[in-house]
Amino acid sequence: MKVLVFGGSFDPVHKGHVALLRRAVKVIAPDVTHVVPAYHSPFKAKSPTPFRLRMKMLKIAFKGITKHLIFDDYELQQGGKTYTYQLVQYLKKRYTNPEIYLLVGTDCLNDLHNWKNPQYIFDNAIVVAGKRKGYNENPATFPHVFLPGIFPKLSSSRVRAHILASGEIPDTVPAAIAPIIRQEKLYGLEIHDWLKAHLKVKRYLHSKNVAELAAALSDIYNINVETAVRAGILHDAGKGFSGPELIELCRKHKIKVPFFEDICLQEPSLLHSYVSAWLAKHEFNVKDKDVLNAITEHTLGSLHMSVLSKMLFVADISSKDRKYKDAFVIRNLALQDLDTALLYAANRKLLFTIDSQKWLCPLGIDLWNHLIKQAK
Ligand SMILES: [Fe+2]
Ligand SMILES: [Fe+2]
Repeated sequence: MKVLVFGGSFDPVHKGHVALLRRAVKVIAPDVTHVVPAYHSPFKAKSPTPFRLRMKMLKIAFKGITKHLIFDDYELQQGGKTYTYQLVQYLKKRYTNPEIYLLVGTDCLNDLHNWKNPQYIFDNAIVVAGKRKGYNENPATFPHVFLPGIFPKLSSSRVRAHILASGEIPDTVPAAIAPIIRQEKLYGLEIHDWLKAHLKVKRYLHSKNVAELAAALSDIYNINVETAVRAGILHDAGKGFSGPELIELCRKHKIKVPFFEDICLQEPSLLHSYVSAWLAKHEFNVKDKDVLNAITEHTLGSLHMSVLSKMLFVADISSKDRKYKDAFVIRNLALQDLDTALLYAANRKLLFTIDSQKWLCPLGIDLWNHLIKQAK
């Protein structure tokens, strides 16, 4: 009895999963196939998308691939952390002398020896993997077989980042699951609805452009792409409020702002960074302090900027909707060296403020002096 098992977070299922399962079914010709969404992957933070929705999308995406397809809520029934060796144990109990084929992507393959009780898995199942585009031959040290062919280099985290950045569903997910993502407002679509309702069109497009540039820079600077995009899309959430409204919001929610009285008198629009961070935390439940700090610091910077914070500061001033010629220069610098881009961006911002006969916030001056000291 051949039992094929395909587990994963599937958050969401994408076309790479579909291609992998299709090929595995063709090559292995299993008697039965179990698709087992993770309830709580031991290697990831608890998946934010409810199990039932991930399962619903899987049923649509995998429909018709093979006759004997079981959408298995084993992990949900277990109700806690479940390891792959336990899944293998469960299948061995369920079937008499099963030949278990464990289907994994190449990203998992290189990690498999770190899984709990790996020897049990290798002794009782055949690990079957699909090579992804760009996979460098670094054969795992345990028995496994590769499916023929190369599979697209897709990942659910990229799909989520795409939706969060653009508000649009990429064609890397099966078209049939798009209505569920839209209807349930998954992966940040509720943020887009809010931004569309609270920002002018131009500002909303700017936010999307900053998120898109943040995604590109995240690859270069080793930042989690979803983290980068979250900071980018939310950085100007408070920009739709007027000066008096921003002042009122800061007072009402006791938002701490250095030089608050001066800013209120001279340039209340500067408060939008603080209000945006407050909205990210309280309206959109962002808990990551690095994201909240980056949003707070995107206008004036600080003396303790993280890589994410520097990246957002630079992305904000150089996104593709910025039409002044320096935007292009800063964008290109950012692709090469973040600190150089930051120094240039801070310089342009200060000069622009002076040229506009506006008040210079001491935080901006502090940043400049700090960067100059560092550069020397
Ligand atoms: Fe801003
Ligand atoms: Fe901005």
